[in-house]
Amino acid sequence: MRAAAGISLAVAAALIMGASAQEEKGTVSFKNDVFPIIKQNCLPCHAEESFNPSELSLDTYAALMEGGKHGLPVVAGKPSESIMVQKLSKKPPFGDPMPLAKKKPDGTVDQREIPAKDLAVIRAWIDQGAKDN
Ligand code: HEC
Repeated sequence: MRAAAGISLAVAAALIMGASAQEEKGTVSFKNDVFPIIKQNCLPCHAEESFNPSELSLDTYAALMEGGKHGLPVVAGKPSESIMVQKLSKKPPFGDPMPLAKKKPDGTVDQREIPAKDLAVIRAWIDQGAKDN
């Protein structure tokens, strides 16, 4: 009996914490919040005309939802299962971490990383259903 009460308390606490975290973030908009991040970090590599071997274009919501070689990059409501998020980690399930490092003409590598706050925006957008909003 005691244990059961403890568990439901923990669940309630998690729910309350989850709700307030959601409120802080507010609704994430694809157009206003997510797309500017894509534009800055992922284009022009993932533009329609760039012939990316992954076949994934990120220049519009519709193109994103068409997916690439490995299928739909987002699983609505499940950021951790979304390829788009997995590819932004240091050890993606296939290929190289995104944004892909660019080799400069002098041979050095320009390793870029997506800022943690931008990754949080992408995760929140997927968490909220990956809508065209
Ligand atoms: C410098 C070019 C470049 C940049 C910048 C870049 N990518 Fe990529 N991306 C690639 C290439 C090349 C591949 C295919 C090889 C691989 O999977 O590693 C790829 C593959 C992917 C895939 C796998 C798609 C599939 O179905 O196979 C995803 C998802 C992805 N990129 C997301 C992103 C996101 C999100 C960003 C921006 C934060 C980004 N990429 C930035 C070049 C780039």
